[in-house]
Amino acid sequence: MKVMLIAGARPNFMKVASIVEAIQDVQRTGKETLDLVLVHTGQHYDEKMSKTFFRDLGIPEPAINLEVGSGSHAVQTAEIMRRFEPVLLQERPDAVVVVGDVNSTIACSLVAAKVRYPPDESRNSIERPLLVHVEAGLRSNDWTMPEEINRVLTDRLADLLFVTEESGSKNLLAEGVPKRRIHIVGNTMVDTLLRHRSHALESTILQRLGLQSRVAVDASGVSSGHKPSLPTPIPQVPPYALVTLHRPGNVDHPETFKGIVNALVEVAQDIPVIFPVHPRTVGRITEYGFGAYFRVLQGSEPVSNQKGILHCIEPLGYLDFLCLMAHARMVLTDSGGIQEETTALGVPCITLRNNTERPVTITSGTNRLIGTNPIAIVEAARTSLKEKTTALRTPPLWDGKAGQRIVSTLVKCLRAVNEGTSSEASKPMPISKVAAA
Ligand code: UD1
Repeated sequence: MKVMLIAGARPNFMKVASIVEAIQDVQRTGKETLDLVLVHTGQHYDEKMSKTFFRDLGIPEPAINLEVGSGSHAVQTAEIMRRFEPVLLQERPDAVVVVGDVNSTIACSLVAAKVRYPPDESRNSIERPLLVHVEAGLRSNDWTMPEEINRVLTDRLADLLFVTEESGSKNLLAEGVPKRRIHIVGNTMVDTLLRHRSHALESTILQRLGLQSRVAVDASGVSSGHKPSLPTPIPQVPPYALVTLHRPGNVDHPETFKGIVNALVEVAQDIPVIFPVHPRTVGRITEYGFGAYFRVLQGSEPVSNQKGILHCIEPLGYLDFLCLMAHARMVLTDSGGIQEETTALGVPCITLRNNTERPVTITSGTNRLIGTNPIAIVEAARTSLKEKTTALRTPPLWDGKAGQRIVSTLVKCLRAVNEGTSSEASKPMPISKVAAA
């Protein structure tokens, strides 16, 4: 059996890491021949947006890199499709696994759903690969978000849909997806977080930002070589707020972006604000002339005591960012994945959007949906500062085993296809050999 796993943009990398590990586990047992072909579309390509994640997470070098780069949505999606089709025909995998909701996800899904392998009994006799979507069913119901379009269309095409939370399953059933194709398995992004948390707490990012004194480091035992058996965030770290912003809906409109920046500057009167800036957002700050609100920290320059200023740093690698998030007093973000990661860490999250496709982070987590009204943002941050602790509540199945569940279900499905014994319950493909089985 051959599985092709697609990664394209930063939020994909932590999701594929756990699936790669689960496939490697199966390979080690030797019970199943399961080949992995990892494809990077090159949607994100910078050292800081891509390569550092592969290193931090120990993801193997992709077998194929489509090197598509940046472009408009149409250009980027089309270019990925154009470059992916020959790879698919050449490799002829039994399954294509896509994750998340980025342009790479929909582009590769469209190709995999429409491709027809020429007959070749010496390899496999299927007509097309099984299309598998990991993180299926999430819905913001906001059609202005490119990701919502990508999610809905990918789910419509997918044969097998792996879901992170109950709402995903409900949404898919309401859209008419047959129940047999839907599997609630937990969250691969949380798998990766739990797997790397201890290691991340050893990051030197707090020291580099001047947020952790030598004394605090030594007292924690982390940097002195005496690792605590269950590493926990270091209590001596002074409070700070961590910000991420990159959604077109927030940063591509000068008025909205200015309102958010003004609110963050107000929050920075009460607590230092640290802002690792996404390349898209850097572009907008320059374009709109908002530079005066930001202080760009160079090299190992520490966070200063200056109030009312946003401390900017370059995008961080996975371990550094996880460490910074784990120690933050609060996180303000418009990211989807960070809503989930803060829930898994028990860190308060203020989401600067009017909707979320991840409602479990509100009902069973630490997330608060605040929107982009500057007054509401400042109020939410002040309320969060007054609260003492946030109880850690973990959504069902966010236990670090989602990758294993996905791979075990996938293997069963592919085995049924190969043996021609696919029953209705594991018959996800309407066409190809599985349909006849
Ligand atoms: C993409 C995803 C978004 C995800 C985000 C995480 C889509 C539709 N959007 O948005 O869901 O939350 O990634 O980052 O797929 N750039 C670089 N270096 C890079 C990559 C991009 O400088 O390695 C710059 C380019 O100028 C590019 C811009 O960032 O035009 C935006 O990148 P793009 O991949 O188009 O979308 P993101 O905003 O990153």
